[in-house]
Amino acid sequence: MSLAITQCVVKAWSIVAGKRVLVVSYSYSHQTRNLLKGLIRGLEEEGVDLTWERVSTVQALRFPIGTIPSTVVMMLKTFLRKRYPIKPLKPIVFKQWDMIILAGPTWSYNPSGPILSLLDRDGEKLFSGQSVLPLISCRGYWRVHFWGLHSLLKKCGAKIICSPIVFSHPTPEPWRTIGVFLKLAGKDPEVGTSWFGKFYPKYGHSRIQMERAYRLGRELGHDIMSGTKPSELQFQAPVRSEANS
Ligand SMILES: Cc1cc2nc3c(=O)[nH]c(=O)nc-3n(C[C@H](O)[C@H](O)[C@H](O)COP(=O)(O)O)c2cc1C
Repeated sequence: MSLAITQCVVKAWSIVAGKRVLVVSYSYSHQTRNLLKGLIRGLEEEGVDLTWERVSTVQALRFPIGTIPSTVVMMLKTFLRKRYPIKPLKPIVFKQWDMIILAGPTWSYNPSGPILSLLDRDGEKLFSGQSVLPLISCRGYWRVHFWGLHSLLKKCGAKIICSPIVFSHPTPEPWRTIGVFLKLAGKDPEVGTSWFGKFYPKYGHSRIQMERAYRLGRELGHDIMSGTKPSELQFQAPVRSEANS
């Protein structure tokens, strides 16, 4: 059977079996988005009927921020949980799901501003009574973000899966902190032949982590399709991959 026919059969089966997952995500510098591409491919290959809603801001946020002073200002504002207004979500997202995956980056130890806006505006309508699995992309410091998100989701009436999926940048400290700051400030620390580039080969997640996200999608999809209760799901945090294990 060709791959296309197999995919059609899998999709048809998911509609019959009726396991529907909504992914709601925000991604500023494409790291969460790239992880989700792999995760979603894995989920769909296991037969999950998947809807992906990408949150976008009313005013586009430029990446990189561009200068050191404006990067410092953004970090201070996000530390104070500044909200970034978002466009309306598609009406289709407001229904009952088998699971909602809420995905996005850590910003100054908090959920990102667009996700905070989402929780303020649509949180109760979207998450009340739903099983919610948080997915976090970060440099390495996700716990405060997760606790904050957990409490906000709880206020919305969500059933939170207490074991989040977390991906940290694999480059060791202090290089990843300096590297992320320089990248946001508009430098390209990983490019060229500078001594810094030797310690900081890439901004963000590795190719191995993208593959790990795909395999995780397969495993999660298998659990969902075989009727595992969301409350029984367990993930190592951060997700271990060859590059950061
Ligand atoms: C304003 C800002 C603040 C950040 N603060 C943190 C932080 O406190 N902890 C952390 O681990 N990563 C932090 N990061 C790094 C991002 O979480 C990380 O680069 C993530 O992979 C970006 O995902 P995205 O491309 O999907 O937005 C911050 C990034 C930005 C833009």
